[in-house]
Amino acid sequence: MVEKTLAIIKPDAIKKKVMGKILQRIEEEEFLISGLKMLHLTKEEAQGFYIVHKDKHFYDPLTDFMSSGEIVILVLEGEDAISHWRKVMGATDPAMAESGTLRQMFGSSVEQNSVHGSDGPETAEWEIDYFYKEKKEEE
Ligand code: CMP
Repeated sequence: MVEKTLAIIKPDAIKKKVMGKILQRIEEEEFLISGLKMLHLTKEEAQGFYIVHKDKHFYDPLTDFMSSGEIVILVLEGEDAISHWRKVMGATDPAMAESGTLRQMFGSSVEQNSVHGSDGPETAEWEIDYFYKEKKEEE
């Protein structure tokens, strides 16, 4: 099934200058990139994006990290895009990620793990809306 997923290149990957390598891998994997923008999130925007983790012990450091620098936010389309992108990323903890996955190659900790991807169809829809839904202009 053709799906869309939200992918993020996190601040650690931008600082390491591997954004180009990650984009190249996305193209080699035959995803269609149908959205791409660079943003520097505020702490509040990062908290909103990760609201599902608000009770976790890592919520505060994670949202500090995600608002610490530029990130690249992508919409990827393709056959089974959600699971395909998760396979390309590898396990959340880079130390556990399979060889050749992005997190194994570029991640340095469970927090600074280089990339994000939606974990299911409903999350993908919600996450894409979070960054790409047209905001109604306030009058
Ligand atoms: P991500 O795919 O962006 O989704 C939630 C993030 O929380 C995850 O990647 C990790 O970076 C982070 N995370 C998950 N578990 C932990 C943890 N135990 N400690 C710190 N960060 C975590």
